[in-house]
Amino acid sequence: MKTTSIFSTLLLSTLALAVPLNTRDCQAQNLQTFTGALGGIAATPVENSGNADRPFSVKGDTFVNLSAALQRSCDQQFNACANAANAGTGNFSVADCSAQQTACGAAN
Ligand SMILES: *[C@@H]1O[C@H](CO)[C@@H](O)[C@H](O)[C@H]1NC(C)=O
Ligand SMILES: *[C@@H]1O[C@H](CO)[C@@H](O)[C@H](O)[C@H]1NC(C)=O
Repeated sequence: MKTTSIFSTLLLSTLALAVPLNTRDCQAQNLQTFTGALGGIAATPVENSGNADRPFSVKGDTFVNLSAALQRSCDQQFNACANAANAGTGNFSVADCSAQQTACGAAN
């Protein structure tokens, strides 16, 4: 009898711990759907910030709406892509990065 009660308590504690973990997984979901990645540089993930007033987060910056966050994500990808193109680390040009940025904006 007593053992059963302890087991129930343990089970409930485990469930209580599991809920915040699931919530965190959910917040880490990437809302940026564009998959193009010239030079292996993907668009910055857009995540749930957990802040109801500014729910969208892009590399630490938060936004009130998803479209602004997605645009920042595409802009950051373009900047990193253009830097790589200028540095000559990839077989692509800044114009390729610009086309990718347009595709990124159109994908969302
Ligand atoms: C999203 O927020 C930006 C400012 O951060 C604003 O300029 C834009 O109009 C907003 N767009 C929508 C669809 O609410
Ligand atoms: C870059 O090179 C890879 C293979 O090395 C090729 O698959 C890709 O299409 C090239 N990209 C551009 C923009 O030329």
